[in-house]
Amino acid sequence: MSHALFEIQDLHVAVEGKKVLNGVSLRVNRGEVHAIMGRNGTGKTTLAYTLMGHPRYEVLSGKIILDGEELTALRPEERAKKRLFLAFQYPVAIPGVSVASFLRASLKSVRGAEVQPAQFRALIREELKGLGIPESFMTRSLNEGFSGGEKKRLETLQLRLFKPKMAVLDETDSGLDIDALRIVSENLQDYRNSDRGMLVITHYQRMLNYIKPDVVHVFGSGRILESGGPELAIKLEEQGYEWVQGA
Ligand SMILES: Nc1ncnc2c1ncn2[C@@H]1O[C@H](COP(=O)(O)OP(=O)(O)OP(=O)(O)O)[C@@H](O)[C@H]1O
Ligand SMILES: [Mg+2]
Repeated sequence: MSHALFEIQDLHVAVEGKKVLNGVSLRVNRGEVHAIMGRNGTGKTTLAYTLMGHPRYEVLSGKIILDGEELTALRPEERAKKRLFLAFQYPVAIPGVSVASFLRASLKSVRGAEVQPAQFRALIREELKGLGIPESFMTRSLNEGFSGGEKKRLETLQLRLFKPKMAVLDETDSGLDIDALRIVSENLQDYRNSDRGMLVITHYQRMLNYIKPDVVHVFGSGRILESGGPELAIKLEEQGYEWVQGA
């Protein structure tokens, strides 16, 4: 039997001794985009951090499986090597490390081989153009002093460079202006293909106009309460979460 591209099995997670995830299960097949929506504080970002392998998030039980390989006990960089990518609601700044050296080092780590400077420059130039990022960004410190929208564009750049099998995006659309939302969304949509999967955490339906999800999940009390097609996102936008059992 063929396996799902990405699978979360009955995941229970505690943060600082507090139980936050209460049995998350999810299957993303190759080529699928899933969206997660849900009220504030229901555990969506906790899920994203847990998938990344952040040490603060304690997996009490359950499994995370990418392409048939279990990742649950792996360190974040090992997960990245297996081509799981996570973009964050609050990207961290790393003073003193330029965007270019960060990207080149990360690319080397993901690929497991050195990327020649000339090759790297050519690769980057193309992507910067597509995302409307000035080349001068490359010499700045990672995320330091970047505006919200600029950070999100850089995340999208990383996704396009690292070419993960599975990408988890936590509120990539927050803080983007109208044009940036379109540019970032179109780049994500363009990234989509029949081998890759995406899990998009968002509060609003607007990004889903560009990246049409195959499945929409409603998150509440640290688990998935309801799943449906793209029409579910529209219903939530119109009616809120009131009608969802347990939300
Ligand atoms: N490091 C932490 N220490 C203590 N509590 C935490 C920590 N991280 C998360 N929590 C708690 O876990 C719950 C879920 O938080 P989380 O950030 O996952 O929610 P969310 O669904 O992403 O919300 P939002 O829509 O506002 O981004 C919240 O009650 C939050 O306060
Ligand atoms: Mg969040």
